[in-house]
Amino acid sequence: MRRVWVLVAVVSLGIFCAAQRLPEEAVPTHYRLSIAPNFNSESFSGETTIDIEVKSATTEFVVNAAELTFQEASVSSGGHVQKAQLTLDPKQETARLRVATPVPPGPASLHFRYSGKLNHELRGLYLGKDPDGRKYAVTQFEATDARRAFPCFDEPAYKATFDITVTARKSDTVISNAKVVSDTAGPRPGQHVVRFARSAKMSSYLVALAIGKFEFLQGAADGIPIRIYTVPGKKDMGRAALDHAERSLAYFNRYFGIPYPFEKLDLIGLPDFSAGAMENTAAITFRERDLLLEPGRSSAENEKNVAQTIAHEIAHQWFGDLVTMRWWDDLWLNEGFATWMESKAVASWKPEWKLELDDALAVNGTLMSDALADTHPLHQAADTPEQINELFDNISYGKGAAVLRMLESYLGPDKFQSGIQVYLKKHAYGNATSSDLWKALAEVSQQPVDKIMPTFVQQAGAPMIVVTARCAQMQTYVQMGQQRFFEDRALFGAGGEELWQVPVCLKSGDNSGKKVAEQCVLLSERSQDFKLPGCGFWTMANAGANGYYISAYEPTSLRDMSQDLETVLNPAERIRLLGDVWASVRVGRQPLGDFLDLASGLQKEPSGPVVEQLTATLEYIGDNLVNDRNRVAYQHWVQNLLRPIANELGWKVAPGESDERKTMRAQVQYTLGYTARDPEPYWEASKLAKAALENPAAVDPSLTEIVFDLAAMRGDAALYDKILARMKQTNAPEEYSILMLALARFGDPKLLERTLQLSISPGFRSQDTPPLIAAVMTNPAGQQLAWEFVSSHWDEIEKSSGGFNSSTIVQATGNFCDSGLRDQVSEFFSQHKAPAAERTLRQALERMRNCVAMKAQNKSYMASWLTEHGGGSGR
Ligand code: BES
Ligand code: ZN
Repeated sequence: MRRVWVLVAVVSLGIFCAAQRLPEEAVPTHYRLSIAPNFNSESFSGETTIDIEVKSATTEFVVNAAELTFQEASVSSGGHVQKAQLTLDPKQETARLRVATPVPPGPASLHFRYSGKLNHELRGLYLGKDPDGRKYAVTQFEATDARRAFPCFDEPAYKATFDITVTARKSDTVISNAKVVSDTAGPRPGQHVVRFARSAKMSSYLVALAIGKFEFLQGAADGIPIRIYTVPGKKDMGRAALDHAERSLAYFNRYFGIPYPFEKLDLIGLPDFSAGAMENTAAITFRERDLLLEPGRSSAENEKNVAQTIAHEIAHQWFGDLVTMRWWDDLWLNEGFATWMESKAVASWKPEWKLELDDALAVNGTLMSDALADTHPLHQAADTPEQINELFDNISYGKGAAVLRMLESYLGPDKFQSGIQVYLKKHAYGNATSSDLWKALAEVSQQPVDKIMPTFVQQAGAPMIVVTARCAQMQTYVQMGQQRFFEDRALFGAGGEELWQVPVCLKSGDNSGKKVAEQCVLLSERSQDFKLPGCGFWTMANAGANGYYISAYEPTSLRDMSQDLETVLNPAERIRLLGDVWASVRVGRQPLGDFLDLASGLQKEPSGPVVEQLTATLEYIGDNLVNDRNRVAYQHWVQNLLRPIANELGWKVAPGESDERKTMRAQVQYTLGYTARDPEPYWEASKLAKAALENPAAVDPSLTEIVFDLAAMRGDAALYDKILARMKQTNAPEEYSILMLALARFGDPKLLERTLQLSISPGFRSQDTPPLIAAVMTNPAGQQLAWEFVSSHWDEIEKSSGGFNSSTIVQATGNFCDSGLRDQVSEFFSQHKAPAAERTLRQALERMRNCVAMKAQNKSYMASWLTEHGGGSGR
């Protein structure tokens, strides 16, 4: 009896989950798609014919469709056309066609005439406005929104070719995935019809259209024409983008060993865009901030971001567009790969940017996301659009990239590249899964990739590797144990069942900082012994900093290693060590003082990104772990720590200075002003902010952001008004974004209230609503206020971006470190469901809880450590 019941439950659950998927009785092969937007009525009309291959005789077909109104639907096969009866299911986002006579197996076609709204939700086929108020229409289909523009088999495995035709205003440029084959006047006066060549075989989420007044810059790489499109007046800000796009394309032609598979490449900067960028086949769309740079007026950090975003999306043209994951449960394949690749590519022409150090920093952050109980495995089932959208997170991107980087370093870059080439050739114009990738890599390398990868792809979380080493008979005996790392002390203490196959690179050194041995091994058991030649004074377990794991050491050996950190470890290893020690501190394996000690040893640290890792953690401590009794002491301690570096760096940018030094100056001065509340950087920043408002060129671009952030801290209404006015004036995306976010950094609640109101005011671009609110939520002075605003305006906020970007705000609640706020968040979302942020909410609640616990654990400890270490002396 019980058995039967379980069986029924399992079967109905199966049906329920599969319900969001299309039945497999027909497969599309080709689409003919005509679309005509009407900007006055904010609507469009469309006609779609889908050639399909019917698998077995049927009278029913199901396609995806959402918010479309149908005028006609028919099915034809063998020259016989049948009118179809259409049933829409708005919840499942499907349309079911029924015909009287069964359609036999073989080729057939579905035909639809329909209309839809040009929406304001930044998804599907949506409306935007350029700064002159002129409307444009553009698509954003990933993950499940092509169905809002045309009826289709909207799943990544249904690849087909597309013939696209658009009827638009005469003055509109029309861009799509393929080249234009004809452009003729009509059918009405003031219109033209643009027909595109047949596209390559591709998934529906990669179809793109952009219809509006655009201008462009043109270049080429290896014979492929490349254009940067912008709204009128901005094309000159696309120079750097064109250069990076040309380099990227040429780089990938060589790396993948397959020439760029499409006929042209367009990169389109849009003033209204929900994500950062989108890899539509040969027609990549961008938020302006992620594509355009004002010549001579942008920071290196921003140019890095633009270069990496471009490289990321161009890498997708092969990894994602040419070869596509079979289903969204392998989204990490797309996003992890593109994320790994973006730095590898850009580093090849910009080695001075040292992107490998930014990557090491990012891995520390990713490991902390993976340390939550509510993280998820890289391979993660997802059925509903909301579940799918939630997968675009730090795990798919950051962990995906980190695991690939670890594997590349284990196999060697050449073997890894060959494996990737084999994989791409095998699945070109088709689909693949995670295991297809590691099968190709295992085959080419003859290494146990198929043993290692499942442990990182199917299991959630990351291991902490505990290292103990001792010396005997001129050998170093190393014991390593592995255990899943949780940020939560109790969960970490309880241990888990997980076991990973971890490629670990060990490095030992003597007491003068010289390397004694370096060797990579595969840790496959819960606890395992290894031997290194020579007698090591210290042994570290992430040589090269390519491992996706946390290392933990005995306090004494950590101290030995730390004596001469700069000679013993390279900058990437130092970054990871700071992250490792912080992880040990979080779970109480080591006291907070051990991290602060390590920090004290970095007073002369020459590497910018190492300093960044350090200052980021000092900020976290200052924002969250100090209390009214020890705050001043902590500020003094940080002042003492950072003043020497800050004085050495000063505020003047010397001619010919490296980008690294400029970035480091900005970081140190910011932390000194913000976390240490040192008055000097604050005054300097206020002065410079005034100068920049008069003349933006008065301040070096590397300093603009921190100048406004610091000035805002104690800024008054007069400063606020000036920033706001300048923000409304500028047409440079970087400057706009800096000024906008500065409005979230003020200390005065009245001004922060204005910022919150601004974020949902008419005329404010809805693409900026979630980031601006989230910025107020990360300002300690604005948390309570922002939360009250969010909870009382939730419906408006959700509406502003199709519900999707509300996850940015849910995520930002994870920065609260207060049990009262946590209760309010938990209570609020038990009543207001955010289906696109369910896991995000659980993670945010967990982060808040862990932070509150850590604050309590360190309450008295911080005070006594600071008294002992001179924190209070400056009082
Ligand atoms: N495929 C994504 C765009 C996307 C993101 C679509 C979320 C749907 C939901 C694109 O390749 C991407 O990853 N964009 C990033 C920028 C990139 C440089 C990390 C983004 O939009 O943040
Ligand atoms: Zn991507």
